[in-house]
Amino acid sequence: MSSIDWKEGRFQSKGAMRSVKRIGDMAGVFSDATAWQSMDQQMLVYSVEWEQRAEPGLEGGLFWGATIIQPGKVGEEYFMTRGHFHMRRDRGEYYTTVQGIGMLVLRDDRATWTEVMSPGSLHYIPGQTAHRTVNTGESPLIFWACWPSDAGHDYATIEKDFFSIRVVNQDGALGIA
Ligand code: PA5
Ligand code: MN
Repeated sequence: MSSIDWKEGRFQSKGAMRSVKRIGDMAGVFSDATAWQSMDQQMLVYSVEWEQRAEPGLEGGLFWGATIIQPGKVGEEYFMTRGHFHMRRDRGEYYTTVQGIGMLVLRDDRATWTEVMSPGSLHYIPGQTAHRTVNTGESPLIFWACWPSDAGHDYATIEKDFFSIRVVNQDGALGIA
């Protein structure tokens, strides 16, 4: 059995995987390349901790993990995840927020839309839907996710402006650009 710190988005037991994305890992993700280049490339943007009891690619298993997005901006644009489709397009996912405030950006072949993330918000991401999360607050945004072990991550398809909207702070106010 595993054990988690629900509110901190951390595993307390051994065996969790961990991945970290720093500013330097996110070339081309934010729209303001000049602002991105001038930043400390070691600055932490987000981390993910998850457990995979099933083999990746196995049909019928589930993965469970938390993402922590740090507060911050690149130019006017809030820190966010890269975003992805699932490699197996029909696979869905649940997210639920435990701390912080943010935005879930979703896009399918017809539209782009957003859902506000705040403690207790539960988000169902249907299959065929690209998803990205954005920290619009001043403290870490922490959410848990559950996804199928055969979903996979397709980052290539959403590269550069795929979502068609960007979540920004303009003159001190949250906006969509
Ligand atoms: O499975 C998910 O959708 C999440 O665990 C994400 O992988 C996580 O939030 C990090 O985002 P991304 O994979 O787009 O870098
Ligand atoms: Mn996903």
